[in-house]
Amino acid sequence: MSKDLILEINNFSLSFIINKQEINAVNDVSLKVEKGEIVGLVGESGCGKSLTALSIVNLAPQNSFVVQGEIKIHDENVLKFTSKQWNERRGNDFSIIFQEPMTALDPLVKIGNQIKQTIVIHNKEFKKDKIKLKQMIIDMLISVQLKDPELIYNSYPHQLSGGMRQRVLIALALINNPCLLVADEATTALDVSVQKQVLNILSTMNKDRNLSILFISHDLGIVKNFCDRIYVMYAGAIVESGKANDLIENPIHPYTKGLISSIPSFSKRGSTLSTIKGNVPTLLKRTNTGCPFVERCLISKKICLSEKVPQQNYNNRSLYCHLIDLEKSIKEKYDE
Ligand SMILES: Nc1ncnc2c1ncn2[C@@H]1O[C@H](COP(=O)(O)OP(=O)(O)O)[C@@H](O)[C@H]1O
Ligand SMILES: [Mg+2]
Repeated sequence: MSKDLILEINNFSLSFIINKQEINAVNDVSLKVEKGEIVGLVGESGCGKSLTALSIVNLAPQNSFVVQGEIKIHDENVLKFTSKQWNERRGNDFSIIFQEPMTALDPLVKIGNQIKQTIVIHNKEFKKDKIKLKQMIIDMLISVQLKDPELIYNSYPHQLSGGMRQRVLIALALINNPCLLVADEATTALDVSVQKQVLNILSTMNKDRNLSILFISHDLGIVKNFCDRIYVMYAGAIVESGKANDLIENPIHPYTKGLISSIPSFSKRGSTLSTIKGNVPTLLKRTNTGCPFVERCLISKKICLSEKVPQQNYNNRSLYCHLIDLEKSIKEKYDE
């Protein structure tokens, strides 16, 4: 593993036991995040993004289990961590933030004290130096662009707006200077202007601290100017990945094309908004034999139903599609 690789997921599969049956939810996922990179993981709801994110920090649901693969952070396979190692590392070397900032904050503890607890769990030496501790917290609140940090320090979560709470969560996640932040739909619940501010904070953290970010969203429109590279996930599997600009300007996989043509600003003026017909299949409806997208694909062939899709490199892209040779015909159908 190169020393610039922060996160490396190799052939990771996760399943559930439901009614004594093994049901697959994440299928053979591989992805990488390098030092200082912002990497997007996108796909509609139900595609397995959160399960992947939660697996990175050992928070996958109790009824799930790892079928195969490894998840390495800094060259250590975290799937082999003991609970002591998890307690030392989570919130310290790597952190996760979610969509719902209220549920991640303790409603009964003032913001300043919550951040303080996070610091001293990992850095006992700060416990005695109360002045330094407070200054660290105030500085962090300033760097997540919270005005009046002193007031925030002494507030309870319910006294803050949703956008302020999400900033507090970013402060909590980054206070111990982790190398990796996993942000799972972290801006989804926020209105558009607050969303932009939060992205701006994350972008500043990325530049100033060389923080690597795995940014998960169902909305390709949000990640388009924010990420360096993007992975597109469908029904538990990665279908396409590449440089963000290139992937969005020239999508190859039919699913990526469908996602992009559903972003309002990308559809041609005057044309109706095209969306992909149908829904992501539920876990019970997945067969895992052919291509996961076969049922909704406008150009699928027989081979797509029956043969597992191999990974191929094509035009600076990593692709899982039997039909990349027919790229031209994909273009005709989707780019009208
Ligand atoms: N605890 C669970 N038990 C059974 N199925 C689950 C559980 N958690 C998630 N799933 C299913 O796994 C699939 C992927 O979920 P998730 O990773 O949350 O998707 P995403 O984050 O992409 O919206 C969905 O079909 C979801 O219903
Ligand atoms: Mg999710």
